[in-house]
Amino acid sequence: MATAAAAAANDHERTAMRRAIGLAALGLGSTSPNPVVGCVIVDASGETVGEGHHQRAGGPHAEVHALRAAGEKARGATALVTLEPCNHTGRTGPCAQALIDAGIARVVYAVGDPNPTATGGAQRLRTAGVDVVAGLLEAEAAAGNAAWLTSVRLGRPHVTWKYAASLDGRIAADDGSSRWITSGEARADVHRLRAECDAVVVGSGTQRADDPHLAVRGIEGAVQPLRVVVDTNGTAVRPGARVLDDAAPTLVAVAENVTAEGAAETVRLPRADGGLDIHALLGELHARGVRSVLLEGGPTLAGAFVAAGAVDRVVGYLAPVLLGAGPAALSGGGITTITEALRLDVSETVRIGPDLRVTATLVAKEH
Ligand SMILES: NC(=O)c1ccc[n+]([C@@H]2O[C@H](COP(=O)([O-])OP(=O)(O)OC[C@H]3O[C@@H](n4cnc5c(N)ncnc54)[C@H](OP(=O)(O)O)[C@@H]3O)[C@@H](O)[C@H]2O)c1
Repeated sequence: MATAAAAAANDHERTAMRRAIGLAALGLGSTSPNPVVGCVIVDASGETVGEGHHQRAGGPHAEVHALRAAGEKARGATALVTLEPCNHTGRTGPCAQALIDAGIARVVYAVGDPNPTATGGAQRLRTAGVDVVAGLLEAEAAAGNAAWLTSVRLGRPHVTWKYAASLDGRIAADDGSSRWITSGEARADVHRLRAECDAVVVGSGTQRADDPHLAVRGIEGAVQPLRVVVDTNGTAVRPGARVLDDAAPTLVAVAENVTAEGAAETVRLPRADGGLDIHALLGELHARGVRSVLLEGGPTLAGAFVAAGAVDRVVGYLAPVLLGAGPAALSGGGITTITEALRLDVSETVRIGPDLRVTATLVAKEH
């Protein structure tokens, strides 16, 4: 489909779709449980006459923003959309109909809508006589919407495990000291990652060792993520803990038989090897509308997520520092021999100040 779309689309359309993918990314972290979507409307000469993105759940969809911006110029124009226009009346009307009503002559979209309640937009457009092309820059657009697509396909949030380590793969020195391995620039970059996710998760070990804050700082207009502490016995989040401030909501996950109530909201989950059942935790977060999780450690909880097959993307901040001893970034993970190694594809490497940020995704996953 992507090849046919590539053949059917012209250079103006490819450029406009790339712009739409960029616009969609502006919504990361604020549209859940909806996808991020971008839309660009171009006229017959290839000039952009309107553009928009889905900014927040409950707000207008990308197509509506773009149509409003285009006004009368939408008549006879082409809409480039990163996701198949919806055919569903939710908090807003169906975008397929809005495009038809505005007189759009051609719609080129990147990714088909896998959501059974919203799909059918392309068919509605075709029935109304609109020329429809699917699959232009599909892989790029799908990567930008990975969190939402994963959550629709798997019924659980997309998980990014993030860690900061020395070049020899250690997250603390032998004596446990770890502040700071990576640079201020790398630590600031983590706030951008947090802002793009719906929830930030840490284990009770990190809670005890670091008393982390986990909210977003320094990014204007960011929607704060839900802060989640996985604390089987309900003993790690002590009064005065930084996650208890009012900078962001906080949820403490404890075992079903724990009766104590802390200052934060508590959710009770089944136990499993090592602590709480990871799938139950992700199911609970999904039910709360969380579509993307940033797992910030530590190594023990990260190992449990890996063993549960629940890590989709890894973001490692590597500092040009050697420690020689101290805990490794990942502990366990159920891997005992090289043939079981979890293989990843590096999708990006970036210098962040003196450090390196490596982003990798799972090569292939069977579910
Ligand atoms: N450099 C980095 O990127 C980074 C990031 C985070 C942390 N750290 C460092 O990592 C260290 C803490 O790591 P850690 O490995 O000791 O602790 P952790 O991974 O933060 O927490 C592990 C604890 O989580 C609880 N847990 C609940 N359910 C679990 C499950 N299914 N599987 C595994 N654990 C589960 C367990 O304790 P209970 O069952 O008793 O609740 C377990 O001991 C600190 O030194 C911190 O500074 C470094």
